[in-house]
Amino acid sequence: MKIAIYPGSFDPVTKGHIDILQTAAGIFDKVIIAVAKNSEKQGFLPVEKRVELIKKSVKDLKNVEVDAFDGLTIYYAREKGAAVLIRGLRAVSDFEYEMQLSQANSALAPEIKTVFLTTKPKYNFISSSTIKEIFLNKGDISKFVPDAVNEYLQKSFEC
Ligand code: COA
Repeated sequence: MKIAIYPGSFDPVTKGHIDILQTAAGIFDKVIIAVAKNSEKQGFLPVEKRVELIKKSVKDLKNVEVDAFDGLTIYYAREKGAAVLIRGLRAVSDFEYEMQLSQANSALAPEIKTVFLTTKPKYNFISSSTIKEIFLNKGDISKFVPDAVNEYLQKSFEC
């Protein structure tokens, strides 16, 4: 059984992330989308809420599990018996950092391979930061995030 881990901060999860996940779910037997608890970034939503929103957004993908983890992604992947780490590539600017990360991960756990997937062009410019900025300035994010995320944000931050 080929297990793949799709790690990230997912703060919040976007349609771009879901697009990558759908592709991965069609290739691998099981995909675990895993929220990093110790991301260097300042959190917008609590990790538990991010996990809950991802669960709601992927409920139709039967071979996808949602989890959160501490520590190094590659050791978490090994603990889960994963053969593959999934990373999304949106633009050439992502490449250098991703290359370094995959080489560092490969030095730590050579048996786990990084696979890069791309999103549909219409999601290429999206990042979680862009979503937060649009939302916090009262812009419409409904095209860019799953319904569960849009509904939660509208409800929680309405004044
Ligand atoms: N669609 C939309 N947005 C996407 C995307 C896609 N397909 N793919 C990436 N993004 C966005 C993310 O939302 C994120 O946006 P933000 O910067 O506004 O938050 C940005 O692109 C960067 O994404 P990513 O590179 O996946 O970073 P991340 O913060 O989501 O996740 C970790 C990075 C958590 C996976 C990484 O830091 C990690 O593995 N940390 C654990 C410690 C570790 O193992 N470090 C490595 C040591 S070798």
